[in-house]
Formats: sequence, structure tokens, C-alpha cells
Amino acid sequence: SYVLSQQEFVDRHSLTYPFEERGLQFGDGVYEVIRVYNGDYYLKKEHVDRLFRSAEAVKIKLPFTKEELDANLRQLLSQNNVTDDAKVYLQATRGSATRDHAFPTVEANFYAYVEDLPRPEDKLRNGVSAILRPDERWQNCYIKSLNLLPNVLAKQEAKEHGAYEAILHRDEKVTECSSSNIYIVKKGTVYTHPETNQILHGCVRGRIKQLACQDNIPFVEAAFSVAQLMDADEVFVTSSTSEVMPIVHIEDQRIGDGKPGPITCKLQHAYAADAK
Ligand code: PDD
Repeated sequence: SYVLSQQEFVDRHSLTYPFEERGLQFGDGVYEVIRVYNGDYYLKKEHVDRLFRSAEAVKIKLPFTKEELDANLRQLLSQNNVTDDAKVYLQATRGSATRDHAFPTVEANFYAYVEDLPRPEDKLRNGVSAILRPDERWQNCYIKSLNLLPNVLAKQEAKEHGAYEAILHRDEKVTECSSSNIYIVKKGTVYTHPETNQILHGCVRGRIKQLACQDNIPFVEAAFSVAQLMDADEVFVTSSTSEVMPIVHIEDQRIGDGKPGPITCKLQHAYAADAK
């Protein structure tokens, strides 16, 4: 298969980097994950815009324009004959140079590749469980940075507990999850953390807000507490890979009646129709 490297397409086995690479040595880079349904990108513009925002926030100059990236991403799917459900991973780092914390004067490194990814249908239907952990990340979580150690450690703990996600909270306020945004439903109203620097501004989150509005589902962007989370009628998370995923169990407690709730199901249907 072919991967996009800078602005060229190369065989995936021929792409290598020097060991003195800023992403490898410092986590000095940003990334994106874009969903593909039936061979077509979903929310591509939103992801491309966010990649450029993340890069700008950490002063990485991408060696192409949005229009060039857009065309290359299209070609990535056609070169690989993608016609099914997949995801594309994109990564930009500050480049390859002798190790020094301060910026080198080299071009940024960029690559993108596509990988098959079926929809998580069983989990979407039945719901999944989650654990609760303190949010130990930095103060700039709106940047989709490669520094994922807190997220990796939280997700591994979830896995070891047989759970799907780790829900994160700062001083009892729920922010988001290790790799998704989180929502509660109480008396028919959806609540989710506002788009501050404490969460990633999820592309699916942005779309779900619009879809809720179209379906006349009240949508409130306000932080909720761990106590409100545990007392919610419904809980769900969203991301490009998880879609609209019901959380039916948190730590030792069942949420609602332990099945995906009506508002969650409504938003799942709206999402599925939108992503088609
Ligand atoms: N994660 N919050 C965090 C911390 C994330 O890492 C992600 C995405 C999201 C949801 O963003 P979006 O709706 O734009 O996918 C929220 C990707 C899928 C990942 O790291 O694999």
C-alpha cells in the first residue's frame, strides 16, 4: 500500500525516519485521525482545519497548503483503492535534526496513511463500560499533540479493567475521555464540557451539536461533575472511531437501566444518516 510522505506517495515499507526525529525524541508534533465511510472522507474539512490550528499553536509550519493537503488526501484513497470503511492517520512533527530542545531550522516531517476500520456495530448496539480517572494532562488539550502518555496510561487502565474508555475529571469536573468527548443526558437535555483549552474540540462533537439542534434535542455546553455523571439518565462518548458510543456502566455502577438510552439512540441514527 501507499503512504503520503510530505507531498509524495511512497510504498509503506520504504518510509523510514532518522532516530533523531522530533516526534520520536520529544513527541514534538501534532496529528489527526479522519474517518472514511464507503471510500469517502467524513468531516474532512474540520480535521484539516484542526491539523493546521494544532500546528500553528505549537509553531510547526506545515510544508503545504490546505488545498494541497486536501488533494493529496483524496489521492491517498484512490491510490489505495479504498472503497470501504477506514481511517486515515496524519502526523506532522517539527522535523529531523540533532537533539536539542529548541527548534531546529529544518522542514517539518509529515505523513498520512489509511487503514481499514469497520464500524463498531456490536458495541454501538449494546453499549460499553468505562472507568473514572483524574485528568493528569496539561492545560492545552485543544491541541491534538503527539504527547499522549497520560491518555495511553488511562486507556491501558481501562483495558485492564475490561472497560472501553477512561473518563477523565479535573477537581470532580468531567472534561473528556482518553480518546473521545463525553456527554450526559438528564431529563432529555444533553450536557457536555464547553470548548475550552481543557478538551479537544472534537470534530464529531461539533457535528453532534448541529445534529442535536436539528432534532430539537436541548444541547447545553456546561461542565458537569462526577456526581452528575453517575446520576445521569444516559452517558455517551463520541470520536471519529467510536462514533456515538453508549456508556452503560461506569466503575461499579450501572447507568440508567444499563442499556443505550433513547436520546443516545436518536443521535446514533442522526450520525449514521449524516455519515452515509
Ligand atoms: N481521538 N478527545 C480526545 C482526547 C481525542 O483523542 C479524540 C479523538 C476526541 C474526539 O475527536 P474527533 O471527534 O475529532 O475524532 C476527543 C482520535 C480518534 C485518536 O486519538 O485516535
